[in-house]
Amino acid sequence: MNASTHDVVVFGATSFVGRILSRYLVQRFGAGGELKWVAAGRSKARLEELRRELGPGAAQLPLVVADAADEASLRALVKQARVVVSTVGPYALHGEPLVKVCAETGTDYCDLTGEVQWIRRMIDRYEATAKASGARIVHCCGFDSIPSDLGVHFLQREALRRFGQPCVNVKMRVRAMRGGFSGGTVASLMNVVKETAADPALRRELQNPYSLCSESSRPRTRQPAVKSAEFDADFGAWTAPFVMSAINTRIVQRSHALLGQPWGAGFTYDEAVLTGRGLKGRLAATGMSAGLTGFMLTGALAPTRWLLERFVLPAPGEGPSLKDQENGFFDLRFHGKTADGRSLRTRVTGDRDPGYGSTGKMLGEAAACLALDIGRPQPPGGFWTPATLFGDRLIERLTASAGLAFEVLGD
Ligand SMILES: NC(=O)c1ccc[n+]([C@@H]2O[C@H](COP(=O)([O-])OP(=O)(O)OC[C@H]3O[C@@H](n4cnc5c(N)ncnc54)[C@H](OP(=O)(O)O)[C@@H]3O)[C@@H](O)[C@H]2O)c1
Repeated sequence: MNASTHDVVVFGATSFVGRILSRYLVQRFGAGGELKWVAAGRSKARLEELRRELGPGAAQLPLVVADAADEASLRALVKQARVVVSTVGPYALHGEPLVKVCAETGTDYCDLTGEVQWIRRMIDRYEATAKASGARIVHCCGFDSIPSDLGVHFLQREALRRFGQPCVNVKMRVRAMRGGFSGGTVASLMNVVKETAADPALRRELQNPYSLCSESSRPRTRQPAVKSAEFDADFGAWTAPFVMSAINTRIVQRSHALLGQPWGAGFTYDEAVLTGRGLKGRLAATGMSAGLTGFMLTGALAPTRWLLERFVLPAPGEGPSLKDQENGFFDLRFHGKTADGRSLRTRVTGDRDPGYGSTGKMLGEAAACLALDIGRPQPPGGFWTPATLFGDRLIERLTASAGLAFEVLGD
């Protein structure tokens, strides 16, 4: 562990989501309050502009310049604080040197990646190093995958309290959601589509619902997945595929594996979007499924991908307006069943645009949790998930300060 006097360094403070995170940290902690943090990025001028935008409360905010591709500058960066938060994405293009340096130096790290193929690579390359150095690495600390991962953690905790047993089947359904996409998210998604289109072995690995579990902790249970319009009797409504399920389901399965499979080797988990009842719900589910398939196919072919990136999708640095971030929200419903057929319904809601207004707050609280609530030397170093490293401590922070609610609805 380094001896820095700061708690957190935000690398990528000038990215679209980094600016939201920085605003949140200033409002919540000031520049040198309970959480002492540093803003970092590749451009001194952009960092100074950000500090001016953040107002008088940030006048004393320390700034550090580092480049994601320059390992020496990253080694100097991680000396600034005990925890590094990164929003520099696409992570598959820019993220590896920082994970390597954190794993080697025993520096705790969290980020916003939702890129399964990159997380798999990082675990394969740096898990042993992080275990040896004591670095706790936690990917997916935004809308993907905190609400899903902590949502299942919350439901299972309640199932154990009520029934004395866990739920063996859990579903998450997006009941309602309003939000947008930023250029960084689109670039990350496009890069996943590009990498998988070029590599059939990678495509096969990513289709495996246990792709983020170690080889020795992959059960044989077939996982359900909503791939087209389907009626869901548990919710009495039609469902369509949910784009984030590709990462969220993998993180939930990794949490289960890291915990030693307390919900049983037959545990299943899947995610989908609720589109309503009757013909209207069916048509909406069919339209949404076709739209998602079309988007993936368009993104997989180089010429159409170029057209999408050039003319349709937001560019890096762009994203939903402040008004849209504030008017956004999400409402996720969970339904679990125990082995003897008892059921439990819970929900997780958030008060801002899921990917930005709310993600900035989730990432800020995850970083604060890592810096202020998680002790040393336990839990040990390695690649954790939000539920396994933070669990209830992060739920408390998110409900107290970040506009999230975790509620039991009944059976
Ligand atoms: N998990 C979630 O729910 C969630 C939600 C939102 C976003 N995300 C992910 O978060 C990431 C950021 O998204 P965004 O929209 O904020 O992206 P963005 O605005 O495009 O920002 C990318 C950032 O990377 C920085 N950067 C690029 N190359 C660099 C280098 N060589 N050295 C240092 N910095 C470099 C850029 O610096 P400059 O500022 O100097 O240009 C910028 O700050 C994406 O991967 C996205 O998928 C995840």
